[in-house]
Amino acid sequence: MTIKVSAPGKLMLFGEHAVVYGYPCLVTAVDKRLYVEAERITASEDEIIAPQVKESRFVLESLAYFKKRFKINQAVRIKTNGDFSHRVGLGSSSAVTVATFKALGRLFGQDLDARQIFDLSYRVNLRIQGVGSGFDIAVATYGKTLYFVTGGKVIIPVATRQPLDLVVGYSGVKADTPFYIRKVSEAFRHRRVQMRRIFSEIAVLVEQARSALEKADYRRVGRLMTENQRLLAQLGVSIPKLDTMIARALEAGALGAKLSGAGGGDCMIALVTKTTRQAVEQAISAAGGELIPVANHAAGVKLEP
Ligand code: MEV
Repeated sequence: MTIKVSAPGKLMLFGEHAVVYGYPCLVTAVDKRLYVEAERITASEDEIIAPQVKESRFVLESLAYFKKRFKINQAVRIKTNGDFSHRVGLGSSSAVTVATFKALGRLFGQDLDARQIFDLSYRVNLRIQGVGSGFDIAVATYGKTLYFVTGGKVIIPVATRQPLDLVVGYSGVKADTPFYIRKVSEAFRHRRVQMRRIFSEIAVLVEQARSALEKADYRRVGRLMTENQRLLAQLGVSIPKLDTMIARALEAGALGAKLSGAGGGDCMIALVTKTTRQAVEQAISAAGGELIPVANHAAGVKLEP
């Protein structure tokens, strides 16, 4: 019997970095997915077939942890493949971890619920990366759009019925997330009062954005995004390429724009309407950005036929 599972990638909407310090964020699942197939084999060793080396580390750790936790001795073959590359920072390592636990749970008759999958996956991610709030694990598990507080202290679906009309632009620069988390923590050590002020301001924006999303007030959501970007720039995590893409998107009529994730590269997002989408896409491309066609508010981890 082969179990096939998929889990989605993510886009951070509001609150990156602050969420590492105990504040809330808003995150949405994208319709690019990571697939994991698992089956029991009669061999002495597990077989991991993962095209991305980075992903195979997460699979290996998850498998080892699952076997220890549930006292499993049998060997397993796990294959991964994905709709998206780990290059653009959409969260392939968190998706692969979540999908691996879900698949192993099914394979060995442990029907793990969402909270267990989150807790197991977050533990593995922390072991490998040493840092991180777990927001990416939460959205890979639960899907849709979430209000999330550090370490999964709070995980609440945002009561919005439709996906956001977003344009996603990749900066062409692969961001080093742990590096930028450390950079912010270094600044936090030296300028604690100022950094706490920025985080608190970001947290206020997150609350306002949650309510604006629930009321489908997209003009307000857009303004709050641009405001969040201003605060991220103060944290020192934006880069000129992202700044230019964001400025061009706003000039072309986006309701708001910001970087998404740790900064230092990866993607920016711009909130658009049907009438402004094309102009904003052209502006981001003209600024040297690569358009990444993804929808959001996608389903969380699930079994595949
Ligand atoms: C990275 O995509 C977002 C950060 O807030 C880190 C995290 O929450 O794990 C910078």
